[in-house]
Amino acid sequence: LDNGLALTPPMGWLTWERFRCITDCKKYPNECISENLIRRTVDLMIIEGYYEAGYEYVGIDDCWLEKARSLDGRMVPDKERFPSGMKALADYIHSKGLKFGIYEDYGNLTCAGYPGVLGHEQIDIDTFVGWDVDYLKLDGCYIEPTEMDKGYPDFGKMLNETGRPIMYSCSWPAYQEDKKILPDYASIAKHCNLWRNWDDIDDSWSSLESIMNWFGDNQERIAHHAGPGHWNDPDMLIIGNFGLTVDQSKVQMAVWAVLAAPLLISADLATMKPEFKQILLNRDIIAVNQDSLGKQGLRVITKKKIAVWSRELADGSHAVAFVSHRADGAPHATRFTLDEMKLPSVQYEVVVSSFYK
Ligand code: DGJ
Repeated sequence: LDNGLALTPPMGWLTWERFRCITDCKKYPNECISENLIRRTVDLMIIEGYYEAGYEYVGIDDCWLEKARSLDGRMVPDKERFPSGMKALADYIHSKGLKFGIYEDYGNLTCAGYPGVLGHEQIDIDTFVGWDVDYLKLDGCYIEPTEMDKGYPDFGKMLNETGRPIMYSCSWPAYQEDKKILPDYASIAKHCNLWRNWDDIDDSWSSLESIMNWFGDNQERIAHHAGPGHWNDPDMLIIGNFGLTVDQSKVQMAVWAVLAAPLLISADLATMKPEFKQILLNRDIIAVNQDSLGKQGLRVITKKKIAVWSRELADGSHAVAFVSHRADGAPHATRFTLDEMKLPSVQYEVVVSSFYK
């Protein structure tokens, strides 16, 4: 989407994978979806150096709404969990230099059963603008995927007409891929800044592997649609949670960098262990992700269960990641020729990133 935003993949933090739809603040005071969670995350993004490293957006996913709209048809944030309201929260976020992301659903209801935007598009967009929202994730539950080819662009045009630059994250292709409908990626890239292609990520190596496999297996259809202003989105970073080891976390960060993927952390920054934080803040790997050429890399070869991912960068160099899918635990020597890795036959200086040391 040519709205001046997301010239490199967006970076930030999002509630969903880690905090899901936790709404019981009595039982889970530190984890429920609430203004407290957002405020403490904003503070930690600054104090712990995430903002300085480039993580800029802080986003609330599903489960922030009251179950009913107001009498005049407006969305109402949950009164107990967001007592100060969304404008005050946005002001807090902006006062720290960060940007405010929020979630809605294009259908009748959000996936978790809160009011969706269908039939309330204009009033909801006006509300978001009134709250100074900078980023909108528009999910696709409770609507036919066949209606999205028109619905998502129409909604995007209305967003654009407000004059406020709002990053537009679409779930449009994910719901179509799921129903074996071939998405029109050219149109999606024209109308969205980023789009979820496939399954939700869960907190496990098997979930991460299945997503990497899908993006590798389908790269011919999707990779060339990524570029400045429009990105494929393999979903949130789960680094710093419970399901990945340190090395597996490096895999996610490296492959997300090659994929030019949005870097949206979904983890509790207050309990983040230093070895995971180091991965998320590694300057070299972030530089690959944010490379100005904006060319999504590819899984160029898999041999003996070792996949090679490679991305061309603006200065003509290549970022290459080797990902072992082996489970034998023994050392394993494998050779890859330049030809196999689809690299031009010239002399290379090989720099092993600080990330791997
Ligand atoms: C489905 C989306 O793909 C997830 O990322 C999350 O937003 C949930 N819906 C929320 O209900």
